[in-house]
Amino acid sequence: DAAANTNKTGSPFLVGSAIYPDCYNDWNCAQFMRGHMNVLVAENDCKFYAVHPSKDVYNFAACDKVVDVATKNNQLFRGHNVLWKDVNYSPWLANLDVPTLNATFYDHIEKVLTHYKSKAFAWDVVNEAVDDSSTADNPILRTDWVWYQTGADWVERAFRHARSVDPSAKLFYNDYNIENTNAKADAVLKFITDLKSRGVPIDGVGMQMHVQTNWYPSASRLAQLFTAYQNIGVEVHITELDIKCIAPCDLNAQGVAARTIVQACAEHDNCKALLTWGITDKYTWIDSTSKPLLLNETYGAKPFFTEMLAALNSV
Ligand code: G3I
Repeated sequence: DAAANTNKTGSPFLVGSAIYPDCYNDWNCAQFMRGHMNVLVAENDCKFYAVHPSKDVYNFAACDKVVDVATKNNQLFRGHNVLWKDVNYSPWLANLDVPTLNATFYDHIEKVLTHYKSKAFAWDVVNEAVDDSSTADNPILRTDWVWYQTGADWVERAFRHARSVDPSAKLFYNDYNIENTNAKADAVLKFITDLKSRGVPIDGVGMQMHVQTNWYPSASRLAQLFTAYQNIGVEVHITELDIKCIAPCDLNAQGVAARTIVQACAEHDNCKALLTWGITDKYTWIDSTSKPLLLNETYGAKPFFTEMLAALNSV
């Protein structure tokens, strides 16, 4: 049971990172990732556009490579993501009539979850579908996505179909800005509560946690949200942690933010995994001047990493 692995952080729970070929082809980065992490997610290689380049064509090579890296390292593989704002990256989706789009929707879920059956322990089935303008008690879906054209119940149908294809993978809804004291966080909690109450097979919520030194959740807010999800039978993964260091950048302040978030997760039974969105400031989707990750560009440990380690070792 790879989930029971402990890693060099001494943590019994899941600690990992997104990886991109930049990292696993780079000896320093790969060594760090092997030494400190027990779960990996592909930053991009398993997304719709990566595995499904045109209507009847699937190409799993790049995503398989990430599974291979995780397997060789005795790490779990976390799937990200099945359905997103895919038309933005796959323009061929824009030209389909609704029946074809619907068939594509089911076929994609089926092909991807079948291919990674018994390899992916969890999947972000739906990513970022709740509209940012949702109010606390009125979650609304983004209506400009192609998947919405297949019906306003598309999220629910995606989870039901995913469960029927792979009954053993944990199925997650993943989103950003749902971990702080703001309306969207409350809206997504309500959205998932509603899905659960209708028997939709959803096992977890992924809090992406793209935060910054002047804006990150308090320990008490995190504990409150972790408990609220626990009460409806939904586990939490922190899925994409990075912390922008806002100018004038104080790396110690970034360490404090990291410690707050990591410790809140490690202390709470219902926060089962914590993944960062990369490892070194050398490889990040964010402008590297924001220094958002654990190690600096020459692989030196920043307070982000040492405070994270201290938090993991304190529980
Ligand atoms: O690899 C190609 C390269 O061949 C090409 O020349 C170049 C030209 O645009 O594009 C390169 O691909 C880019 C890829 O990152 C690798 O750098 C894509 O354009 C770019 O869109 C892609 O961005 C990724 C983005 O998701 C969209 O998939 C980011 O790396 C990745 O960090 C980001 O991750 C998302 C999560 O999935 C969901 N949550 C938010 C998070 C950050 O936006």
